[in-house]
Amino acid sequence: MKITLVSAGPAELNVDALAVPVVTGQRLAGAALELDRVMGGVLSEMVVNAEFRGRIHEVLPIPAQGKIKPRRVILYGLGALHDLDGQRLRSAHHELVRASRTWGYKRMAILRTDPLGMDSLKAVVEGSVMGTFERRSRQTGAAPERREIDEIVLAGFGTGREREVVAAQENGEATNRAREWQNAPPNELTPDALAQEAMRIAQRHNMEIEILGPAELKSGGYNLLLGVGAGSAKPPRLIRVRHHGNHQEGTANGKTLAIIGKGITFDAGGISLKDPDHMSQMKDDMSGAAAVLSAIDVIASRKLPLDVMAVIAAAENMPGPTAQRPGDVMVSADGKTVEVVNTDAEGRLVLADALTHALRNGATHLIDLATLTGAATVAIGHAASAAVSNDDEFWSVVDQASREAGDRVWRLPIYADYRILLRSQIADLRNAEYGEAGTIMGGMFIAEFAGGKPWAHIDIAASAWNTNLELTTVLRGPSGAGTRLCIELAELMAARVAELKTVAER
Ligand code: BES
Ligand code: MN
Ligand code: ZN
Repeated sequence: MKITLVSAGPAELNVDALAVPVVTGQRLAGAALELDRVMGGVLSEMVVNAEFRGRIHEVLPIPAQGKIKPRRVILYGLGALHDLDGQRLRSAHHELVRASRTWGYKRMAILRTDPLGMDSLKAVVEGSVMGTFERRSRQTGAAPERREIDEIVLAGFGTGREREVVAAQENGEATNRAREWQNAPPNELTPDALAQEAMRIAQRHNMEIEILGPAELKSGGYNLLLGVGAGSAKPPRLIRVRHHGNHQEGTANGKTLAIIGKGITFDAGGISLKDPDHMSQMKDDMSGAAAVLSAIDVIASRKLPLDVMAVIAAAENMPGPTAQRPGDVMVSADGKTVEVVNTDAEGRLVLADALTHALRNGATHLIDLATLTGAATVAIGHAASAAVSNDDEFWSVVDQASREAGDRVWRLPIYADYRILLRSQIADLRNAEYGEAGTIMGGMFIAEFAGGKPWAHIDIAASAWNTNLELTTVLRGPSGAGTRLCIELAELMAARVAELKTVAER
């Protein structure tokens, strides 16, 4: 899909449809009002008469009847202004494009008009690109009822902003790539298949890559990852892809960001077997891996002046004669002993070894993304990721990245009082049965392996896949949660590093 900026008036655009944003409780203004006048007042009539209320995801096509060059005008809602944030703004444009695809428009335009500011460009483009995502990728036979849009023309966003458009388009496409991986069936996307995807990305950008299989994992002492994968015929992989960005001139700063993803390609629960009811959903237990892999693809293609490594702990959590048992004690790669009281709390186990691997390879700042706890859905639901962090300063950067990426995260507290709940009767740590604060405890377990370095844990168990059909304004199905967050975090850290450098040079 082509995305272009134009300076021509909206009435002159040769497109199938011209989309005009409307906010709940506000009348048309600015460029929309001018358009309304040319069209004989039909747009304002729909708004004033409250037939179109501007609610988020409300989309209404109106025939232009030859009064302007576009064949249709689409009114689309942004909801109330005080509710509008980056994530909702993207969601509104996702829906605009999704609906336009079902109507078969090939060329469409989006008109920037109040209340959308000039700074909305990124969200408009990212959301629109995300709206091209097709979930039914494995359906055969009848022609897909949703067609593809060839071009989106952006009017009223100024000109000379092509680079911003390209970057936002890349971010949207990266989000969709993560969504494709999330959606891929678990018989297809195995730990090795995930490693091969990483290999393709590394080769494309000439990045350093290391893929550890069972033999290397054993000699490296990555027993927690091996234990989780032990019940599966598909052996685990520990994947590390590294973008060297610090060695460009003037950027040496010694900082290395590790973006770490949980890559459980299917989570049956192991011997602590899950309820069969929604077990098929557990194909998305590699959503963290999808996000970090997609993010490092963009980070490398932009040649960001920051060292970034993506680490993915990939395994399949299955029951079977060779599976680990509840009660087993494993020695982690960093030497701590862990009593596996519940084999279904496998995410924190594989992440523990992944953090150790990142630290061994020089990580100075760590962020992990994981579909870790069902409790995250209870705590905040599907509209945001839950997070914990051991470092306020690092968290402030993550928080800023979240807002700029329209990829919500909400931090939960870590209390020293809870640390006692991690203790085992036999080993240093146990992996479950804490009795309360499930999402926080999952994070606190992982924190034990962060080596005291600035670290944040993003629990995307709920945000990665909205299964609540009543919750209509949060993207349904795979969302690619965390993808744009990681890209933005790397960009902010790279920019800050450059800032620090200039201060030091003075
Ligand atoms: N992958 C699941 C978490 C999950 C549950 C994600 C539902 C998405 C939807 C994770 O491995 C898991 O099973 N967690 C357990 C942890 C518990 C045993 C401490 C959970 O949340 O029940
Ligand atoms: Mn599990
Ligand atoms: Zn899991």
